[in-house]
Amino acid sequence: MIKKCLFPAAGYGTRFLPATKAMPKEMLPVVNKPLIQYGVEEALDAGLTEISIVTGRGKRALEDHFDISYELENQIKGTDKEKYLVGIRKLLDECSFSYTRQTEMKGLGHAILTGRPLIGDEPFAVVLADDLCVNLEGDGVLTQMVKLYEQYRCTIVAIQEVDPQETNKYGVISGELIADDLYRVRNMVEKPAPEDAPSNLAIIGRYILTPDIFELIKQTEPGKGGEIQITDALMKQAKNGCVIAYKFKGQRFDCGGAEGYIEATNFCFENFYKTGKAY
Ligand code: UTP
Repeated sequence: MIKKCLFPAAGYGTRFLPATKAMPKEMLPVVNKPLIQYGVEEALDAGLTEISIVTGRGKRALEDHFDISYELENQIKGTDKEKYLVGIRKLLDECSFSYTRQTEMKGLGHAILTGRPLIGDEPFAVVLADDLCVNLEGDGVLTQMVKLYEQYRCTIVAIQEVDPQETNKYGVISGELIADDLYRVRNMVEKPAPEDAPSNLAIIGRYILTPDIFELIKQTEPGKGGEIQITDALMKQAKNGCVIAYKFKGQRFDCGGAEGYIEATNFCFENFYKTGKAY
């Protein structure tokens, strides 16, 4: 059973400056809820109740968000505004939160390694909260992945087909189709130019990782952009046939940039806020 979910949230969020100069990207609101809350809700839906967050300088608002604000609660007690806090209270009641700080932003792989003391020696999920994933038709994306993990017992990465001209924004995989929407990964390239991409199947911000990944990250030299890339460590697992890529059911919005963020905002406004499911 997977219980832990790691949220690497120490990045600078440069694509969203100046909004992210003093505020964590993960706290950007999509309608009325910060991005990270959508991610934690998805994790809880999947049965992951031990939430670990890798933070960094200027990210203290994240810890305050997942805490009780006594003054505020006292202020709205007995009013109809209490409903606004029902969702976050549920997360506080049902999940535990632990934090560690990445002191140098050396990439996603390094951020995941920084979370090792919080995870220990067990499989765990990773959520990049700026990828907002929703599935109106059924199980959330993490729930779908946890079910697959229970079947295959190896690393699972979520993928989606992207415009071939945009492969240079993603880790891109190729492999053999082993079932509907499932590939056994054979090759993986970080941010390839369109002409070098092995496919247009791009990894997005949902992973289930087996704990051997930590040693593999440790052995990984800095790659593209001087950062320790998770893709390089995953490639080592893939060589042993231990990485499955899953074309998930649902939609993903890249909220790390303005376009995806606006799309997500419109989507959530229509489907959650207007329908009274936003708290
Ligand atoms: P991104 O590639 O989106 O980087 O990181 P970023 O810094 O957040 O955003 P931009 O590209 O500058 O706008 C993917 C995820 O990995 C985390 C980020 O917080 C994000 O959730 N990350 C990245 C870290 O935690 N530490 C790092 O050193 C790098």
